[in-house]
Parts: sequence; structure tokens; C-alpha cells
Amino acid sequence: MKILSVVGARPNFVKIAPILRALTAANATRPPRDPVVSVLVHTEQHYDDAMSARFFSDLAIPTPDHTLGVGSGSHAVQTGEIMKRFEPVLIAERPDIVLVVGDVNSTAACTLTAAKLGVRVAHVEAGLRSFDRSMPEEINRLVTDALSDILFTTEVAADENLRREGHPDDHIFFVGNVMVDSLHWCRELARASTILDRLHLSARADDGGYAVVTLHRPSNVDAPAALERVLRALVVLARNMPVVFPAHPRTRARISEFGFESYFSELDETRGPQANGHVTLLGPAGYVDFFRLMSSARLVLTDSGGIQEETTCLGVPCLTLRENTERPVTVASGTSTLVGNDSDRILSGAAAALGGGRQVAQVPPLWDGHAAERIVQVLLERV
Ligand code: UD1
Repeated sequence: MKILSVVGARPNFVKIAPILRALTAANATRPPRDPVVSVLVHTEQHYDDAMSARFFSDLAIPTPDHTLGVGSGSHAVQTGEIMKRFEPVLIAERPDIVLVVGDVNSTAACTLTAAKLGVRVAHVEAGLRSFDRSMPEEINRLVTDALSDILFTTEVAADENLRREGHPDDHIFFVGNVMVDSLHWCRELARASTILDRLHLSARADDGGYAVVTLHRPSNVDAPAALERVLRALVVLARNMPVVFPAHPRTRARISEFGFESYFSELDETRGPQANGHVTLLGPAGYVDFFRLMSSARLVLTDSGGIQEETTCLGVPCLTLRENTERPVTVASGTSTLVGNDSDRILSGAAAALGGGRQVAQVPPLWDGHAAERIVQVLLERV
């Protein structure tokens, strides 16, 4: 049996790592003449060391068998380029199934390529819906699920969405969340991370604590008015506690394009981030360092779906700078609160989260560190 897995962008790496490990473990129990052959394709939608290579080393992901060198571009250019470059790889490899994860352009493009060649597709993180088609990821999720034969889900709402869209029950497998598998796997490494020392940050709330921000969604960073509303709130918060912002390259580019540098200060290497009414801008963090930074924060503010899930597992309050979420369980039973990008709502959300102490989050069902094993089990039975 041959399984070809696809990754392209940062969140994909976090999701694929435990699945590849579970495939290797499954092989150890199979007869040597009947191994599962695992092929890894990296489209290189993300290509900077900080956005890609660093994640491969942090998460011990094997070197890809094929790299497609796609890089950045408009949605049509990036999607088309991935399809053009993936097709010959698929024809040469002839896998029994293509495994795609998440909702980035690489996910949808490779699914479409495989479906056109009659190769079956399994989608990890299927069924999530924000019901907001202005999000590129929502389009990617709809296309990917429509064409996938095996749908692995992370939460009950996803199963309901898929059933409503007409997917038969025997295509849907509620397996839990592979991002949580990576969190469990990295726990010790994150404890050993020196990022807090390097930044002179204290994990102790009685030292005042600190907040961490990530932002990269077009709805927050591509429109100057929206980005400025968020930054106005962040600098108010930064009068009370250091606010650190490991910025995505796209966000950093927008900050300088819109002339918003005055909201920020660069890191003071000797004293670390200060509660001085400026946000401290950092480069993108690796997986292990970000895990450490996030798990010791008093507050996380983000528009990332994955971080909503991770903060729920870690019990860290999370203000989600969006009007909707495709991950409703993180709001219903986790630590996430939707606050959009309005300055006042962000600040009142921050006051409530900081005033209420650390919430006791309920970890959603099957977010237990074993989702990848369940995925591999299903693949071995169904492919
Ligand atoms: C992509 C995903 C998004 C995911 C995010 C995680 C899509 C539609 N979006 O968004 O769902 O949450 O990744 O980070 O697939 N850039 C670099 N170096 C890199 C990669 C990107 O400088 O290694 C810059 C380029 O200027 C590029 C921009 O970031 O134009 C955006 O990259 P792109 O892959 O198009 O989308 P993301 O915003 O990263």
C-alpha cells in the first residue's frame, strides 16, 4: 500500500508529523513484505526557513520525497502552479491514496489534481465550516471535502456539517485532533525551550505576565482600517503588560506598507519586551518556541484556527480576532472568545479574560494525543 501525503504551509507541518510517525509505527507490526510505503510531497507554498525548514526540524518530519518549489502568488497562480507541478508526481508515484490536511491552497489544489486522475483522497480536518466564503480557507475546505473519499473529523460539528452536505456516514470518521498529538509529542521539548529567557519574559502571572499576538488573515491584515483597529487595542494592552508579536511575513510587509511602524518597538535585547505602550515585533517563531511562549502567556490574541485549538488544550485564554470560527468547540467548551477586530471589543475581551484568571477549559472529546493512530488504523482498513 502506498500513501502519498501532501504538505505546503506552516499548519500542515504540525498536522502531518504525528501521522507520518504513526505510519512508521504501523509498519513495525506489519510483515516486511507488505509495508505501507509513505511518500511525502512538499509544495513549498511556504518556503522561508522560519516558515518551513524550522518546522521540519522541530517536529522531526522526514525530508520530503518531492518538493514542488511553488512559492507565493495570487490564489489562482498558486493553486494552478501546485496542480501543474503535482500532476506528474502523482502519475509517477501512483499511490493508493493521497492524504491531505487542513485548508490551505495546497490542500485544495492537490485534492483536485488527485480527483481528476481518479486517485482517492483522504482529508484530515474535514467538515469544518465558518460559513463565510470570503475566507479563502472556506473555499478550500468545501472543494477538498466535496472531492474526498475519506473524511477525518476533529469535532462533532464537523460531522454534522458533512452529513448536511450529503456525505454518507461511512465516509466520515471522527478521530480527534492531530494538532493535539503534536502538542503532546512536543511537551518536553517546549519545556526545554529557552525562548522566555532569551526574551527576558517571566512565566509567572504575579510578575504581570505577557500577551502573545499572531495575525495573518487577509480580513485583519490586508485592510489598513482593520489592522489599525487591532493595533490601537494592542498598544493600550501594552501599557499594562508586554505584548509580543511574532509576525507572519505577510503581516510584517503590510505593517510597513501601511506605515504602521509607530505602533511597534523592536526587541530590546538586554531588557526584553516592556509594558511601554508599544507592541514588540518578533520574527516568526518555530513550533517548539511558540508552544513555550503560548503556554506561559496570560493571554493570546490570534486569528489562527490552530492556535484557538492549542490554547483550548493548554487552558490559556484566547481572544479570537474574527467574527466567526469554523472550530465552534473552542468557543463552546474551550478558552476562545470571538471578539472580531473592533478595538473596544478586543479591550473588553482582554479585561474579562485577565480579570477572570485562567479558565478551566474542557478538552474536547478525542483530543487526546492519539488521533494519528486512529487515522492510520482507518487507512489500513479502508485503503
Ligand atoms: C497560508 C494559508 C492560511 C494559513 C497560513 C498559515 C492559504 C489560502 N492560506 O496563508 O490558511 O493559515 O498559510 O501561515 O493557503 N511568505 C513569505 N515566506 C513564506 C511564505 C509566505 O514571505 O515562506 C509571504 C509572501 O509574501 C506571501 C505571503 O506571505 O505572498 C502569503 O503567503 P501565502 O502562502 O499566500 O498565504 P498565508 O498568508 O501564509
